[in-house]
Amino acid sequence: MNRPLNILFVASEVASFAKTGGLADVALSLPKALSEMGHNVVVVMPRYYAIDKSKLTHVEGVLGVPMGVMGELWAGVYHTTLPKSSVSVYFIEHEEFFGRSGLYDHEGRAYDDNAVRFIFFSKAVFSLAKMIDFHPDIIHANDWHTAVVPLLAKRRFVHDFGDAATVLTLHNLEHQGVFHKSVMELLECGWEPFTPEAFESMDFVNLLKGGIAYADAVTTVSKRYAWEIQTPEFGFGLQQHINAHAHKLFGIVNGVDYMEWSPEHDKRIAANYSAETLDGKLLCKKELQKHFHLEQRDDVPLVGFVGRFAKQKGIELIAEIIEWVLGHDVQIVMLGAGEKWAEGYFRHIASRYGSKFAIHVGYSDDLAHKIEAGSDLFLMPSLFEPCGLNQIYSLSYGTLPIVRKTGGLDDTIENFNALANSGVGFKFEDATPHALYNTIMWALDTYTNNKEAFVAMQKRAMQQHFGWDDAAKEYDVVYRYALERLQK
Ligand code: ADP
Ligand code: GLC
Repeated sequence: MNRPLNILFVASEVASFAKTGGLADVALSLPKALSEMGHNVVVVMPRYYAIDKSKLTHVEGVLGVPMGVMGELWAGVYHTTLPKSSVSVYFIEHEEFFGRSGLYDHEGRAYDDNAVRFIFFSKAVFSLAKMIDFHPDIIHANDWHTAVVPLLAKRRFVHDFGDAATVLTLHNLEHQGVFHKSVMELLECGWEPFTPEAFESMDFVNLLKGGIAYADAVTTVSKRYAWEIQTPEFGFGLQQHINAHAHKLFGIVNGVDYMEWSPEHDKRIAANYSAETLDGKLLCKKELQKHFHLEQRDDVPLVGFVGRFAKQKGIELIAEIIEWVLGHDVQIVMLGAGEKWAEGYFRHIASRYGSKFAIHVGYSDDLAHKIEAGSDLFLMPSLFEPCGLNQIYSLSYGTLPIVRKTGGLDDTIENFNALANSGVGFKFEDATPHALYNTIMWALDTYTNNKEAFVAMQKRAMQQHFGWDDAAKEYDVVYRYALERLQK
């Protein structure tokens, strides 16, 4: 390997401490993989109210964080290491900003002061690096929450961090951090960055847009999404801006933490199993059926869904066809929370089709694992999907994904081809109820009438490997590129 790098990895959520989605999984696994490659990695995140302080070590001293017109604010610091690793993770504590139950919202309503909260966090990261005497070669920021980091490194904190190259990863273009322009004052970088080429969007400040402009390199979480976001359909208004920066844009598919998500090691499931013997999977299926009070039958195809109830995830498509599908011999279980109409609608379906459809509204790591292991098929008909993790977790469990041909779903799932005996899932193109319905029918038919092909596909799926070690190597290349650009 080339010279090891000092990498400051900055994220608003990190799995096992605070998680609302896949960003947290990435922020746990990628730093570990980078560290295993030999890099020196430090992770920083906010200390949300829900993170138990008694399990962390309090770091002596306080951080001063300059916040422009708000003056200098103070933050506390806690420390621990990532689970099963020696990578340091630091927590920025500020009672007023992070001492509340939600990460970004309260019951779906974004906090009014999100701009202040996350600019404060982004700035505190620099104060922290000074406090712990960490000199980053790379500062790796993620999504809109920390998208001001590249600008801060190049302007406000250039004196101490001018040698650090910045990388911004885009996990989801739907959320860009758009706020009143007065937010610029908090950055203390003047008004020069407030132009249509950087932070300005129709007289508002757009943090993600500015981050893309100032980062030395930008990555997103699949190859297909990297070009999709340069089109009007997926760019959420930033397509031209991203296209203008395409020369420094890289698509790197997320990986799977196989210690966490594999049927061989998973401690949360009824029985462990592997591609050699799928017997244990049947026990997992029985346990899942029991958990959801469904009829305990081996021969009925069981379809699982785990995910946010958001338009992105195709929940409207599912809602449209669910009753058509339930007209067949099938069982469906759903785990998720989000849009209230969807929670209500699927609960209503559960009350009508109790013997074959069940739902758990809420968040449960345990149940997510049980669904991955116990289902035969996994439903993920997303309208867009930057990468998606559940479909690759499903592969690991031999649970065949039904996906739409978009973003990371397209990159990671090869469509079933009965003639060639190839593929690991069922893929459709059009975001229409009929296309989804027909694909589910194709999957159910394969399960019931072409068992041999189905089992062969399960085994192929389980042999796929989406290692974080491979992804980390690609990030390593991006880091070198970012450093070179900075030095030019
Ligand atoms: P996104 O980040 O867009 O939500 P991903 O597929 O990348 O989608 O990651 C979602 C992650 O969140 C997965 O680890 C998934 O298991 C988890 N997850 C989503 N909803 C729930 C839920 N209700 N309960 C448990 N885990 C969930
Ligand atoms: C986002 C995306 C998801 C991706 C995750 C982690 O939340 O919606 O597709 O897998 O980030 O990168």
